[in-house]
Amino acid sequence: MSRNTLDFPAWLTDRVQHTESVLDQLLPAVAEEPASLHEAMRYAVLGGGKRVRAALVYAAGEAALQTSAPASAQAIALDHAAAAVELIHAYSLVHDDLPCMDDDTLRRGRPTVHVRFNEATAMLAGDALQPLAFELLGLMPIAPALIVQAIELLARSAGSLGMVGGQAIDCESVGMALTAEQLQQMHSMKTGAMLEASVLLGGIVAGAGSSVREGLERYASAIGLAFQVVDDILDVTADTATLGKTAGKDAAGNKPTYVSILGLDASRELLQSLHAQAHEALLPLGPAGARLAGIADYIVGRDR
Ligand code: IPE
Ligand code: IPE
Ligand code: MG
Ligand code: MG
Ligand code: MG
Repeated sequence: MSRNTLDFPAWLTDRVQHTESVLDQLLPAVAEEPASLHEAMRYAVLGGGKRVRAALVYAAGEAALQTSAPASAQAIALDHAAAAVELIHAYSLVHDDLPCMDDDTLRRGRPTVHVRFNEATAMLAGDALQPLAFELLGLMPIAPALIVQAIELLARSAGSLGMVGGQAIDCESVGMALTAEQLQQMHSMKTGAMLEASVLLGGIVAGAGSSVREGLERYASAIGLAFQVVDDILDVTADTATLGKTAGKDAAGNKPTYVSILGLDASRELLQSLHAQAHEALLPLGPAGARLAGIADYIVGRDR
């Protein structure tokens, strides 16, 4: 059956399994030296994770697809872009869990990388996942000008004005009562930036024109923030077994979150409004935006 005809849950399952196998192929083998570093990299990336960022790359790529481009090259490029965002994300989780940051022992239902290996290996595994992501973008079989755009976007989104910058603000904000604007800024950077990059990378690889990119940008900014609002809510409302990470860690660590600053009800209201904004942004794309709409529903409705 063609992937186009699958309903959303079946499509998502297909993309999650596909992402897992792409990552498995693109990560260095454990047999290759340094074996313990490669083992830690594979442990950090494989066998878990919702793969939301990869799904966003594929959904945006399908939404913006140019029928003139060779399908096989486009599919390989989307695989590399999807793997790249998952590698940066996995590295960010490994470092986020370190004792010097959130000091977490459980991730994706298993011991965190520094617990399973050691701190130096966890740091180095994260360090090594990052350049691998850019290597994969460099190897995309698409026009060099698009590769440059993709690399520039991922670098900016992962760096001090994006994910890492948001993490720095997060570390500095422990015990502080941030304003709603400061909180939004922190969340949009630490989490929103990489989700936005995932959507826009799909658009870049598919050669999307400026009007489609504009819709993708508005959609991405809404779901990017929504994702962390849900993460904050789940930290309070879900249990450790379902989450696969320790519930209640934000309050225990004195982190400013949407729940601690706005409360649960107002956080849920904000979520509904971001959800509506995401759908509204997709209207100009018509039926082509259906997968992205499905992911927005999934992000808002998820229980882990
Ligand atoms: C967790 O991300 C960290 C945040 C940015 C909130 P995910 O909830 O996407 O984690 P995995 O990849 O599914 O484990
Ligand atoms: C982390 O946010 C965002 C990242 C860039 C990794 P959190 O610290 O809330 O993520 P979890 O809850 O540990 O997954
Ligand atoms: Mg954190
Ligand atoms: Mg954390
Ligand atoms: Mg969290």
